[in-house]
Amino acid sequence: MNASPSYKYLSIQGKRYIVTKGPPVYGELTKDGWRQWDSSRSKLGSILSQNIEVGLCPNVKVLYLGAANGTTVSHVADIASIVYAVEFSPQPMRDLLNVSRSRTNIIPLLKDARRPETYSHIVESNLDLLIQDVATRGQVKTAIDNKKFLSSTGKLFLVIKARSETATAPPDAVFKQSLEQLSKEYNILLTQKLTSDHKDHLAILAEPLP
Ligand SMILES: C[S@@+](CC[C@H](N)C(=O)[O-])C[C@H]1O[C@@H](n2cnc3c(N)ncnc32)[C@H](O)[C@@H]1O
Repeated sequence: MNASPSYKYLSIQGKRYIVTKGPPVYGELTKDGWRQWDSSRSKLGSILSQNIEVGLCPNVKVLYLGAANGTTVSHVADIASIVYAVEFSPQPMRDLLNVSRSRTNIIPLLKDARRPETYSHIVESNLDLLIQDVATRGQVKTAIDNKKFLSSTGKLFLVIKARSETATAPPDAVFKQSLEQLSKEYNILLTQKLTSDHKDHLAILAEPLP
């Protein structure tokens, strides 16, 4: 059974956008049930709109760290079969709870992504995709500590925000050190700096090493 629609390109009001099918969430443009994935508000949307595949296909099971108010999570949930959405701040969690009312495949978790042991009794293992966008120190360690939820063929999509690691070192130095640390536990498949909408961010696609 493969009933979920994926993302695709659609022209809305004369412009071409990536879209997913589902109820609107954040004032995005819509057409025939499809909704614009605004890449200026979503790092994952920005990467997908550059034709980069991250393994987000119909019916995948996803753990999303740094869910915030659910902007990107809502699009992921339009495609995936289940999205475990971890966010540690109560304020965006309120919005995320609203988003999850219209998308029953979102499991919102008010948890700290640096402490996966606090949600390992809820989140299943053998997931297809781990998406991480946490603006916090220790981003690579967080990705490594959450690796246990991924299946051996799963993928990690990680966004490193240089300024969350240090306000002083140049972003390129932060990225280099992060990649060195990450490659002890993951095989790096691709790196891509984000566009000016998301300054000083590096997107990384990787697969878990055994
Ligand atoms: C840049 S925002 C994420 C935006 C979101 N991914 C999107 O595209 O809609 C980063 C989020 O990570 C959350 N965060 C930071 N550190 C965290 C942690 N250790 N555990 C869980 N959430 C965290 C913040 O509260 C914030 O909402």
